[in-house]
Amino acid sequence: MAVIAQKNPEIKVTVVDINEKRIAAWNDQNLDNIPIYEPGLSDVVKEARGRNLFFSTEVDAAIDDAEMIFISVNTPTKAYGIGKGMAADLKYIELCARQIARVSKTDKIVVEKSTLPVRTAEALKNILDNTGNGVNYQILSNPEFLAEGTAIDDLHNPDRILIGGNVDTEEGKEAMEALVDVYASWVPKEQILTTNVWSSELSKLTANAFLAQRVSSINAMSELCEHTGADVNEISKAIGMDSRIGSKFLNASVGFGGSCFQKDILNLVYIAKSFGLNEVADYWEQVIIMNDYQKRRFAANIVKTLFNTVSGKKIALLGWAFKKDTNDTRESAAIYVADYLLNEQAEIVVYDPKVTEEQIYADLDYLGTRTELENRQLVTVVKDPYLTCDKAHAIAILTEWGEFKDFDWANIYDKMLKPAFLFDGRNILNSKIKEKIGFQFRAIGV
Ligand SMILES: NC(=O)c1ccc[n+]([C@@H]2O[C@H](COP(=O)([O-])OP(=O)(O)OC[C@H]3O[C@@H](n4cnc5c(N)ncnc54)[C@H](O)[C@@H]3O)[C@@H](O)[C@H]2O)c1
Repeated sequence: MAVIAQKNPEIKVTVVDINEKRIAAWNDQNLDNIPIYEPGLSDVVKEARGRNLFFSTEVDAAIDDAEMIFISVNTPTKAYGIGKGMAADLKYIELCARQIARVSKTDKIVVEKSTLPVRTAEALKNILDNTGNGVNYQILSNPEFLAEGTAIDDLHNPDRILIGGNVDTEEGKEAMEALVDVYASWVPKEQILTTNVWSSELSKLTANAFLAQRVSSINAMSELCEHTGADVNEISKAIGMDSRIGSKFLNASVGFGGSCFQKDILNLVYIAKSFGLNEVADYWEQVIIMNDYQKRRFAANIVKTLFNTVSGKKIALLGWAFKKDTNDTRESAAIYVADYLLNEQAEIVVYDPKVTEEQIYADLDYLGTRTELENRQLVTVVKDPYLTCDKAHAIAILTEWGEFKDFDWANIYDKMLKPAFLFDGRNILNSKIKEKIGFQFRAIGV
């Protein structure tokens, strides 16, 4: 929304959220305090905020005022009842629809920006038409393809914008045109795709499933490499040069995280199962099974390498965010690796350049594996990477932060207990240099 406001100074964009703390942070005069860390975002907010970009908790007033409403609320995996652990929980979406229906006095275009199961637009339309005040609604699907960490660049230069709508009616086509015009301020028209609403909804789940599948595919090969003397980095390069395959998303790692991949694939699996398409469901579920296995395998390898016990040993974790250049930790591999090692009675020390101590404890508490007190006794969060590694038996790199490459690794080695083990869960360090320093170095898939 910040980029839409930046590129369309004549359009008033109001971002509303029921979370007062978040909105207050978005309105903070100090742009370092906005709630999301994302390169370039604070500059965009600085340019547009107060001009045509506003943050508010007055949801009803914003609905009343708007011609176009983007529903962008969370759609987590359902944690209860039918579809528990798989289906998308659409209760926040439904609450939004009911609120829009209650408040609206003029016609609205309602845009699904959240990632939703295919055919959600049908349910939205049903709620809006049957509980509303007789105003007309057009439902569009406009899934978001940005990646955290590169969001601003992705938004400024998108590969494509996808807009799904009712292509069979004049009103539907007009609504789609209105949204096309918003993006056309900065995106070339040939990159704005329009489709029927179901294709648009399902394209987002498909895109995430394909991306995650590449990660699981290369991670599956990484284990085979470790048994055969092949090097997964060389394989990635060799296959990535094939123009049919392409080079992106081929880095072997401790596993993918983030709020979207797992949730969206589980949702896809659930949808396939609900149509009785068990082979389709099993095919995609394997992507998640492989990812969970890779996280477990990485942690188990640390235990095995450290002479089959980490009990009472200090293990330094470098990185907690699910990827670099974001402070988002949702489904981060680090959480699961830490939990595994804590079950083995390791003493964990964490350093992440952007994630707060409060967030790290909240992530561990959320798992419910041990008490809040135990998490605070067993895990320490340190703001200095050198102190983090001081007297550690092992270091595990869990996020590919650029700064890790530039650390004074000889200095870190000197401070560690020997033999000093270094596990590179993101394959970002040069193994030869680290071995020359004296590290017992382990990367993924080599
Ligand atoms: N994070 C991403 O990179 C990304 C990328 C593409 C798509 N998506 C999709 O976008 C959606 C949102 O993701 P997110 O990461 O921003 O989630 P989030 O949980 O960070 O944010 C959702 C926000 O919605 C607010 N909210 C909930 N109910 C509300 C209501 N009734 N009225 C007003 N505000 C309400 C919450 O307070 C919260 O601040 C999801 O469907 C996700 O799959 C996210």
